[in-house]
Amino acid sequence: MKILIFILFCIPCYALAFETKSIIDSPMLTKNIGTNRTIIVDINGKGDFKSVQAAIDSVPVKNSKWVIIHIRKGVYREKVHIPKTKRYIFLRGNGRGRTAIVWSQSSSDNVESATFKAEAPDFIAFGISFKNEAPTGVAYTSQNQSVAAFVAADKIAFYHCAFYSTHNTLFDYKGRHYYESCYIQGSIDFIFGRGRTIFQSCEIFVIDDKRITIHGSITAANKETEREMSGFIFVKGKVYGVGGVYLGRAKGPFSRVIFSHTYLSNTIVAEGWTNWSYDGSTDNLYHAEHKCHGPGATKEGRAPWSRQLTDEQAAKFISIDYIDGKNWLPAYK
Ligand SMILES: *[C@@H]1O[C@H](CO)[C@@H](O)[C@H](O)[C@H]1NC(C)=O
Ligand SMILES: *[C@@H]1O[C@H](CO)[C@@H](O)[C@H](O)[C@H]1NC(C)=O
Ligand SMILES: *[C@@H]1O[C@H](CO)[C@@H](O)[C@H](O)[C@H]1NC(C)=O
Repeated sequence: MKILIFILFCIPCYALAFETKSIIDSPMLTKNIGTNRTIIVDINGKGDFKSVQAAIDSVPVKNSKWVIIHIRKGVYREKVHIPKTKRYIFLRGNGRGRTAIVWSQSSSDNVESATFKAEAPDFIAFGISFKNEAPTGVAYTSQNQSVAAFVAADKIAFYHCAFYSTHNTLFDYKGRHYYESCYIQGSIDFIFGRGRTIFQSCEIFVIDDKRITIHGSITAANKETEREMSGFIFVKGKVYGVGGVYLGRAKGPFSRVIFSHTYLSNTIVAEGWTNWSYDGSTDNLYHAEHKCHGPGATKEGRAPWSRQLTDEQAAKFISIDYIDGKNWLPAYK
């Protein structure tokens, strides 16, 4: 307890928190990116801008130094887009229960519906909720999807953020990504794409979809070739919620998803993984579990082509080197 208090309240001890990797907080991230350039967004008009997008628009094209966009407490009802030309943006909220970016749109096109889109490399977010409030998943409605965040560039990290929607919540499209202590909620394919991504200590909350009779799936990972370096790796988090889901379904012949040291509640169906709507060979699918625990981690009834990894097999995936993290994550500098 004493140690915890020390880490939480002692300002000069970021180094300790970093070394033990116990808490990554916003002062530590701010210090590690090494800049004081800060733009304040305040919904009540007491900052530089009232809208998040207006603050992003003020960052020069081809920006080459980190800039902090601090978003004060509030619900910002707008779509937010970080265009390809605006690198080195650190979007810093006041905590995911206090700062939220919210929109409501459902579409048959994922990208179009997204509340938040990050298309520039070198982007960090801390302490923000990203929500798509569209009423998808309601019985007898369209098959439309509602993306909360579209993450489509290299070297992107989210710390203590939350992603809320139902169908297709987090479009982890491409690039090397890192999510730590994030909350992700959804019903169908709600973490999908072809990112090369580590989800460290994240909380996955499963909700019911009232449109369908089949079970939804947490992940839908796309990997078309052996060479492609993509796949979602979940380490030390927990999965729970309402209704039954699969851990993942294959979207490409080399689809790779691993849950390691993760708590799985009864929300995970016995089969664990599905090849539903994928009609290729299951030989090269890499849908795997490694030392998971909890009632949903039972190995009985698992899809025969799914895998249980040994420590040796899991090692290269559950290391930060899987995403070359030491070269670009601010917490490793
Ligand atoms: C940021 O500001 C603080 C206080 O004014 C100063 O001590 C520090 O050197 C500055 N850091 C950078 C990277 O400019
Ligand atoms: C579903 O998506 C289509 C096309 O993207 C759109 O025109 C329509 O309004 C959406 N329906 C709902 C209920 O949002
Ligand atoms: C899909 O998986 C099921 C078992 O989980 C298996 O019986 C079936 O053969 C698989 N389909 C293909 C095309 O491999």
